[in-house]
This record gives sequence, structure tokens and C-alpha cells, in this order.
Amino acid sequence: LKTPAVIVNFKAYSEVEGGKALKLAESCLEVSEESGIKISICPPMPELSLIASAISIPVLSQHVDAKKPGSATGWVTPQMVAASGAVGSLLNHSEHRMMLADIAAAVESCRSLDLVTVVCTDTAVTSAAAASLSPDFIAVEPPELIGGDVSVTDARPEVVSEAVSAVRNINSSVKVLCGAGVKTGKDVSKAIELGAAGVLLASGVVKAANPKEILRDLVQYL
Ligand code: G3P
Repeated sequence: LKTPAVIVNFKAYSEVEGGKALKLAESCLEVSEESGIKISICPPMPELSLIASAISIPVLSQHVDAKKPGSATGWVTPQMVAASGAVGSLLNHSEHRMMLADIAAAVESCRSLDLVTVVCTDTAVTSAAAASLSPDFIAVEPPELIGGDVSVTDARPEVVSEAVSAVRNINSSVKVLCGAGVKTGKDVSKAIELGAAGVLLASGVVKAANPKEILRDLVQYL
């Protein structure tokens, strides 16, 4: 993924059930094309393949399991993600935590399949731990601010800057994103000032009455 990276996680909001996910993906594509900023998207899992084949911006899975192809009912293997046409996956999202050993194994499998990995964390300490697994990105998000109205960049700016320096000390090739409450272009530029390579966001776009307007505002300073 190109940086600055703007990743929109559709989560499991009712606003993106069924065909509504494709509509939001099309809005992301349109703003991405007009602004020249690569917006990546994480559609709901059942829509992954359909959206990855219909839309030309990068599509990521919301989750991937450390499972091998075969007897793994209900789990999502890295191979399935790759075959769906997605280019990568979030891992260890605050709403879908994983054990450290499973994050390590999943990152490794994704790497062998050329899938981009975005490991979510909550503090500078867990970001440093995740950096030792050498994912492509770490996305630091204080859970208590997720889905709220105050951006991490205003409420806990030190979490972002401390995660950036902790990760740099462990593995300087890992890029750090931040998320939680990010909703405006001003929040995004503050994230960049704090040393982040981009943002991971959800409700500000997914629940907006006019997502395109919000997306245009979000990318305006990049
Ligand atoms: O995955 C992004 C997310 O957890 C942040 O959510 O709604 O605070 O932008 P939100």
C-alpha cells in the first residue's frame, strides 16, 4: 500500500450489509481517483471477493486466521484472502483480538503469499511487540476511543508518537498508522505530524450521511 495510507474499515455496520458495501466501495474509489490519494478498504468478509473483483482500489480482509487450508470450518486462511483478490489483511483488530503466536504465524503466511499485513495494537508497548513480527503496518488504536467523536490525535496524541518511536526502535521498516475517532482532514494531518504513515478509520465514513463528502475532507491535506 502506498503511504500516506488511508484505510477505511467497513466493520459489520448495518450500513454496509449486502449490496450497500459495494456502494460505499464505489464512493471510496471515486474520491480516491479524483484526489489521487490511495484509499484502501476492508469490506465485510462475505463481500470481500465481490468487491475485490469489482473495484480497482486496494481491498483488505478485516481479519485472517493462522490456519492452513483444509479442516478449518468458519476460519479464514491467508490463502482464501489471496484467492479472493484482496491484497492484504488487518490482524488483531481490537474487536477481533488474536493470540501472539497466531498473529506471528498469520503474518508469516501472509508474507509468503505477498499479502500486506496491518497488525492492530493499543499502546506503544504492544506496538513494539508487534513490530518484532515485521508486519508491513501497525495500526495503533486506543480501544476506548474507537467509534467515538474524539480523535486519538486530539485525545491521546502521545500514544501515536510513542508508538511511532517504539516501532522505529525495533524495526524501522514497519510503518505506523493510527486510528480511533479519526473523522476529519485536520485529524489526518495531525496524525501525519505525529509521525504516522496514515490512518485506519471506520465510523466517520461508514455511518456518514454523505461518505464522499467526508472522504474528500479526510484526504484534503495529503
Ligand atoms: O478499524 C478502525 C477502527 O477501529 C476505528 O474506528 O470508528 O473510531 O474510526 P472509528
